Amino acid sequence: MQRSLKGRKIDIKITDDLLVKIFDKLGNIILEDLAVEFSVTEFQKNKVNDLENIENTLSGEEKKKVFAIEVEKKLNWEKGFYGLGEKYGYINLMDRYTENWNTDVLGMSPIHHSAHNAYHTSIPFYIGMNEEKAYGVYYDNSYRTSFDFKKYSDNVKFKAEGGDLDYYFIYGKNVAKVVENYSQLTGTVKLPRKDFLGYQQCRWSYMDTEEVLDIANKLRENDIPSDVIYLDIDYMQDYKVFTVDSKRFKEFKKMTEKLHEMGFKLVVIIDPGVKVEKGYEVYDEAKEKDYLIKDENGEVYVGKVWPGDSSFPDYLRKEVREWWGELHRGLIDLGVDGIWNDMNEVSDMSTATKTIPETTYQIDENGEKRLQKEVHNLYGHYEAIATYEGLKKIQNTRPFVLTRSASAGTQRYSALWTGDNSSVWEHLEGSISMLLNLGLSGYSYVGSDIGGFIEDGNGELLVRWTQLGAFYPFCRNHSVMNSIYQEPWAFGEEVLKITRKYIKLRYSLISHLYNLFRESSTKGTPIMRPLFYHYQNDSKTFNITDQFLFGEDILIAPIIRPKTETRMIYLPVGVWYDYFTGEKYQGGKYIIKDAKLDELPIFVKEGAIILKNKEMNYIGEKKEEYEIHIYPGQNNEKEFYFDDGLTFNYEKEEYSLINVKLNDDKIEIKNVVDTYKVGDVDLVIHRDKKTNTIKNISIDRTYYI
Ligand code: GLC
Repeated sequence: MQRSLKGRKIDIKITDDLLVKIFDKLGNIILEDLAVEFSVTEFQKNKVNDLENIENTLSGEEKKKVFAIEVEKKLNWEKGFYGLGEKYGYINLMDRYTENWNTDVLGMSPIHHSAHNAYHTSIPFYIGMNEEKAYGVYYDNSYRTSFDFKKYSDNVKFKAEGGDLDYYFIYGKNVAKVVENYSQLTGTVKLPRKDFLGYQQCRWSYMDTEEVLDIANKLRENDIPSDVIYLDIDYMQDYKVFTVDSKRFKEFKKMTEKLHEMGFKLVVIIDPGVKVEKGYEVYDEAKEKDYLIKDENGEVYVGKVWPGDSSFPDYLRKEVREWWGELHRGLIDLGVDGIWNDMNEVSDMSTATKTIPETTYQIDENGEKRLQKEVHNLYGHYEAIATYEGLKKIQNTRPFVLTRSASAGTQRYSALWTGDNSSVWEHLEGSISMLLNLGLSGYSYVGSDIGGFIEDGNGELLVRWTQLGAFYPFCRNHSVMNSIYQEPWAFGEEVLKITRKYIKLRYSLISHLYNLFRESSTKGTPIMRPLFYHYQNDSKTFNITDQFLFGEDILIAPIIRPKTETRMIYLPVGVWYDYFTGEKYQGGKYIIKDAKLDELPIFVKEGAIILKNKEMNYIGEKKEEYEIHIYPGQNNEKEFYFDDGLTFNYEKEEYSLINVKLNDDKIEIKNVVDTYKVGDVDLVIHRDKKTNTIKNISIDRTYYI
């Protein structure tokens, strides 16, 4: 018997053998199953070879753990597939096969490569679309999953190595609607602290107090606006989490005070691996309270991470998460501002797979055993929750957490960086589609290591990467131990000058960025968007991987190759202003643009209303002052949001909203909410390669172009 469901926008038919067909209201097929197959997983094959025996003896719950489920969906009208979180390669996933199994890629071969499937993060959500419609499929299953978009079959297949066939179909008239609806399901980023949208400087490792303060001084002396400095693993005593090496960081608190005086915030790394050492409080307590992951014999599992023998907290349980969260109190008391969670796939150097064996287990809230093969992909997610909730209790500010490993929903707790890339041009280019697909997967607070992590970088690469990274939602320069330094001043005067120019450009757009985050926190909208996000009716945008939109109105076309000073740029339909010269370009076609080393092609859509900041060294240095830039040509309306950028007071309505309406030659500016005091605002009108500035305007007035 066929079952039918009728919705407002779609109708669904389900056959007895579980095949699903989805139609729009005109009866057109949107999605159609060809097959649903159950098979014994590879993992179980080694243990049980008698399928019938499994059928007869196992209970329903146990069967779920044994059978893999694969769904084949007919490839109908789709021209592009996107999403799936953190994947290297071109943006369109058509003709690709990939897997989700959170993996520490360092030491894997190849790393950050389109032939490598499993990355640090797993988000089993994809979007199918053409010019007229779009849908999303979110497979709510934490087992190892695989997705085949016409690589090994003529259709789309997805498979999980266990669990339920439990997926959500999200229909929207366009990609933006699908992403927003997916975000309603899995949550949105919380409005971040504004200072954590600034430039961040990291290295494995700044080794002692002197070096940290030296980096802070150099950032200020060299006039590099910056807000955050990181301590990598060497600040700890023997890599024991929640300890500080008191020899190299003698007066830690004085150091953080000094950093704060200079306007810096400090983030320290915390890995999940707890050193196995009797007498080390964190280990003793975890052992005693039974908070550590166990192996198949019920013994605490011991793997290897930086401290050598290490065991891993079982964050699946709230009790363990609360204990872990509370451990941060000491660091926060020492003046630490944010936490960086790394190695949380979870990474284990003692196994060939670089993660703990699938036979280890965790215990859930109900005291039930959960095999690693089921919960592996959730490890980083639950650590991020533990860290976020812990910080929220301890600090008065919005917590900042950065994670390497994540799954669907982690965007609610933590920013994410794409792990260990290399200082090679391919990884500069690859970061764009990686971050765009993350954005389409509901993860907007993302970035890649600017300058590249592994290997030695060079000045030209750093320049081009900083130009691009200035538009990453999360903007951090980071490099590996023993590589040459790659701070902005490391390659001489010219590189310093250009990197400074682009970091300053980021700060001039930091309120614009903050407003994009506000939108993302309410709707799930990505910050970095592929062109088709706003121009889906133009199929020329479907495969563009080397350009993106920063919000709706700013188009970035980075230089992604060495010794390259010219590139082709696709401008979608409409008129576009060159950001630097004001020259206007007709869109709907490709243009060729020169871009010397100090030039990054940026275009602003006509009709755009952009909020800019006046110069600053860091967030909070002084009361911010703004410019509202008008790019005439189309009518438009924007609402700008302002708050303290730091606390949760905005939840108590302490914020302001200014509405700007561009109507032919009229610019109406209105206060919508004014609970938070906004600094001075100038109005800048762009016209014929010139600008006209009206200083210190009054809000609630109408101006004319
Ligand atoms: C991992 C991280 C990297 C960090 C290093 C040492 O490789 O991905 O960012 O610097 O560990 O902690």
